[in-house]
Amino acid sequence: MNKLYFGDNLEILREIDDARVHLICTDPPFNSGRDYNAFIRDSLAQKKAFTDTWTYDTAAQDARADIERRAHTSDTYKALDECLKGYDAVLRRAVSGSSGAMRAYLAFMGPRLAEMHRVLTPTGSIYLHCDATASHYLKCVMDAIFGVENFRNELIWQRTSAHNDGKQYGRVHDTILFYSKSSQTVWHPVYTAHDPAYVKRAYRHQDERGPYRIDSLNAPGVTQKGASGQPWRGINPSDVGRHWSAPRREAWPEGIEPPENYESLSVHEKLEALDANGLIYWPPRGNVPGFKRYLSMSKGRRVQDVITDINPIASKSKERLGYPTQKPLALYERLIKASSNEGDIVLDAFCGCGTTIDAAHTLKRQWMGIDLTILALDPMRQRLADRHGLQPSIDYHIEGYPTNMQEVRKLLKEGDKRKYHDFSNWAVTRLGLNPTRDVGDGGHDGAGHVTLWNPQQMKETDARILAEVKTGKPTITQVRAFCQVMTQNNAEIGIFITLEPVSAGMRQQAEEMGTFEHNVQTYPRLQFWQIDDAYFANPEIINTLVRLPAEWRLRPTQKLERHFDDRQTHFLRG
Ligand SMILES: C[S@@+](CC[C@H](N)C(=O)[O-])C[C@H]1O[C@@H](n2cnc3c(N)ncnc32)[C@H](O)[C@@H]1O
Repeated sequence: MNKLYFGDNLEILREIDDARVHLICTDPPFNSGRDYNAFIRDSLAQKKAFTDTWTYDTAAQDARADIERRAHTSDTYKALDECLKGYDAVLRRAVSGSSGAMRAYLAFMGPRLAEMHRVLTPTGSIYLHCDATASHYLKCVMDAIFGVENFRNELIWQRTSAHNDGKQYGRVHDTILFYSKSSQTVWHPVYTAHDPAYVKRAYRHQDERGPYRIDSLNAPGVTQKGASGQPWRGINPSDVGRHWSAPRREAWPEGIEPPENYESLSVHEKLEALDANGLIYWPPRGNVPGFKRYLSMSKGRRVQDVITDINPIASKSKERLGYPTQKPLALYERLIKASSNEGDIVLDAFCGCGTTIDAAHTLKRQWMGIDLTILALDPMRQRLADRHGLQPSIDYHIEGYPTNMQEVRKLLKEGDKRKYHDFSNWAVTRLGLNPTRDVGDGGHDGAGHVTLWNPQQMKETDARILAEVKTGKPTITQVRAFCQVMTQNNAEIGIFITLEPVSAGMRQQAEEMGTFEHNVQTYPRLQFWQIDDAYFANPEIINTLVRLPAEWRLRPTQKLERHFDDRQTHFLRG
């Protein structure tokens, strides 16, 4: 069954059997030196979806030491270790900050790429999406792991038309490194539609079978032996240093069948067969015949290694999910089409909001996606439901993401602080809020900020909502402390999220916080949400358990956009 894993991909990759995956398309952090926000539109969004800043700290040094240890027993790690040692010499001489960042980044990427190599089938391939920051280092790491001979392409994807980058040329492209595991790799050339100007220029001739262009019936090089170097109809190709070359069966236009034994005919016999079927063009002047190559038989233009026909996702595009660094579906569909077959397993170990997964599913491949942040899984789940009608647990498995209370308790039992944050992030995002805990925000786990439109008063109200998550038995002191945080932050509404029931005293405290009014509706300012199995059975229940103005119920990434649209409609109508 198709799978999404939530966790560190190194641990998860190490649990995958050898030679299990047919294709990897992956888009890791690029060592951009930036942190990305999952819900970039919301001014209060502080929680990082993922960080892409690197330092050669103890964790990076441990990762590097682990590569060295594994090099004793694995040829792949040995090659990786030697490659990184070579870099160390160069990078130690570089400006200190950036050199440490690159060393740390490579110590992170190296073992993950080594594991990706291990899980690929012998006929498998990998596409590694990166950019000029680290592509030159990554290429040598890939050479070390996959073998120089298995390098296939450096694809250039032009992701934007122009960029003003100070005293340098605008950086407008990403790089995608394409390697196969062996020479026996799956490959289906991909074609795009011809440029109409090219069609007009090249297919200048026309007959009852449609437009055609004239293709050569000979190829360079004199062949002394065999028929191809001998004259045909009095024309000797050897005179001009060439030999006859007849097109393959597939080039014959539809509706005219070549002789059954076409492949075994001599080249002269093939030419006779072509002429008998009117497929040879005899020029009015000169005597060199050509082959009539019909437009109807052309698959289009074979895709090359510079990709300029796939645009980045536009800001208003329906495809945009609000996840930072989301890549266009068309790009990943192209890669998957070229290097896999239907039914194959496609893996993305840095899957973000699931572009590879979506493309793989569309193309009838099986898939596995891994991402570290729980924030990525939400938009991914949504896109699988919206585009393919897929439901978790029924159509695919999610690991490391709670789908019932038992899993919530299991997640929390591990006692790891990060797991607690994962859970808390998950809980606040259920309400369309943004996780905030990591930034020392003074006592709340999630926040949302929205401009509410009040049609009665024809004015906007800026409103703020906060959430706090308690996984243990909640206490009245905690509820009081949260009320204080609400007051300090001028929050209109606060949601206190628990796994255990709240007491009568806590409810009393909530009543004392009073109500918030919007569009003649009254909402309790402090509300409780106890997560339970009823929620997992029907997540829509949230809208009855927690009462929020409509704008807050929308998915966070669409909240502001939709609100804007509503307002515009209102103004237009008004
Ligand atoms: C550049 S984004 C991928 C975007 C993706 N191609 C898309 O279209 O949505 C990189 C992703 O790698 C994830 N990531 C970073 N470190 C990871 C790790 N150690 N294990 C799994 N995922 C990781 C980040 O959370 C982020 O979602």
